[in-house]
Amino acid sequence: MKTMELVFLLIFFPVTLSVKHSLKFFFTISSGVKNFPDFVVVGLVDEVPMGYCDSISNTPEAKQDWSQKMIEDDPQHLEWYTQECLLNQFNHRVQIDILKQQLNQTEGVHIFQRMNGCEWDDETGEVNGFIQFGYDGEDFIAFDLKTLTWIAPKPQAVITKHKRDRDRALNERWKNFLTQQCPELVKRYMDLGKSSLLRTDLPSVSLLQKTPSSPVSCHATGFYPHRAMTFWRKDGEELHEDVEHGEILPNHDGSFQMSVDLNLSSVTPEDWRRYECVFHLSGVKDDIVTKLDKTVIRTNCVSPSEFPAGPVIGGVVGLLLLLAVCITGVFIWRRRDNGFRPAKSSDSLSSDPSSVKDAVLN
Ligand SMILES: *[C@@H]1O[C@H](CO)[C@@H](O)[C@H](O)[C@H]1NC(C)=O
Ligand SMILES: *[C@@H]1O[C@H](CO)[C@@H](O)[C@H](O)[C@H]1NC(C)=O
Repeated sequence: MKTMELVFLLIFFPVTLSVKHSLKFFFTISSGVKNFPDFVVVGLVDEVPMGYCDSISNTPEAKQDWSQKMIEDDPQHLEWYTQECLLNQFNHRVQIDILKQQLNQTEGVHIFQRMNGCEWDDETGEVNGFIQFGYDGEDFIAFDLKTLTWIAPKPQAVITKHKRDRDRALNERWKNFLTQQCPELVKRYMDLGKSSLLRTDLPSVSLLQKTPSSPVSCHATGFYPHRAMTFWRKDGEELHEDVEHGEILPNHDGSFQMSVDLNLSSVTPEDWRRYECVFHLSGVKDDIVTKLDKTVIRTNCVSPSEFPAGPVIGGVVGLLLLLAVCITGVFIWRRRDNGFRPAKSSDSLSSDPSSVKDAVLN
C-alpha cells in the first residue's frame, strides 16, 4: 500500500519539491567516564548543529549566527534552554541511577542516549515527532505518538515502559511538544536561518581506491543540504549489486560527505567505461556524473613502477615497500571515514517535568 502510494506520487507529482525540515536534540549522559562532562546535549536543525550545552559550562551556546539571533531576539528562549540544560541533567542522573540498579549494573561505564525532535513538511504542513532512548549503544525505549504509549524492544525496558505508559499527563505533554511547539520552533529557525539553511552547495567528487584490488569508492564531500544521493550506474542503469552505500556524515564546516563503493573484482578492464558514479543533490537539476576511469582514481598506494629504488632493491623489498605504502593509505582512509555518528538516545524512567516546556529535554 505504502509503495503503491509512493509510486503514484512519483508518477503524478514528479515536480513537487516538498522538503522536510527537522529539529532534533541529542542527549548523551555518561556514568563512569572520567574527564568528560556527564551530560551533553546538541541541537540540530536540518542536521546542522545549532546549539550545545554540557554539565561543565551549564550555559547553552549558539553554534550558528541564526541560532544566536534566535536567543538574542527572544531572551525567553535562552532562558528556556538554560533551564532545560539544568533540569535534564538532574532528571537524567536520577533516572540513570534507577536504571543501573534495576539492571544490576552499578559498576563500570554506561552511556545513555536520548534523541527527540520533529519533522515538518514545508509543502504539506505534515508533522512527525519522535523520542527514543538508548542504553549502552542499543535501543532502549521509544515513544509511539499515535497511541501515546512506549515501545520496549528489550525485556529490561519493560518496567520503564509500564511506568511511562501510566504517566498519561506527561505523554500528553510530549505529544503537545512534538506536534505543536517543536514544529513552531522549526519554522522560526528556518525563517531566521533561511539564507544559510536553504542554500545548495555542490560537492567535489573523487574516485578513490585503497589498493588495486579494493572496491572503487565514489566520494562526494562539501555538499549541502544533507538531502543527497550517490549511486553507481552501468550502461545508464542504477546498480544495486556489488555496491555498498556509506552513511551521510557531517564535515566540520557544516557541509556533508558520503561515499558509495563499487566492487569491481569481476569486471574486466574493457568494461570499466560502462560505469559511472552519479551524485544527486535535492533541489538541484543537474547531477554530477563521474565516469569510471583508471586515470582519475586517486590512491595512496604507489604502483611499483613509480618506485625508483624498485629494480635496485629487488622484488621482495619492493613488494614490502608497496605494502607499507598501501597500509598507510588504508590508515589515512579509515581516519577519513570516521565521522560523528548521531547518538541514538538515552534512557529515562518516570521523568516528571513541572511544565510543558520541560518536555523538550526530559
Ligand atoms: C547482581 O549482581 C550480583 C553480583 O554480580 C549478583 O550476585 C546478583 O545475583 C545479581 N542480581 C540480580 C538480580 O541479577
Ligand atoms: C568483491 O567481490 C568478490 C566476488 O564477487 C568477493 O570475493 C570479494 O570479497 C568482494 N570484495 C569486497 C571488498 O567486498
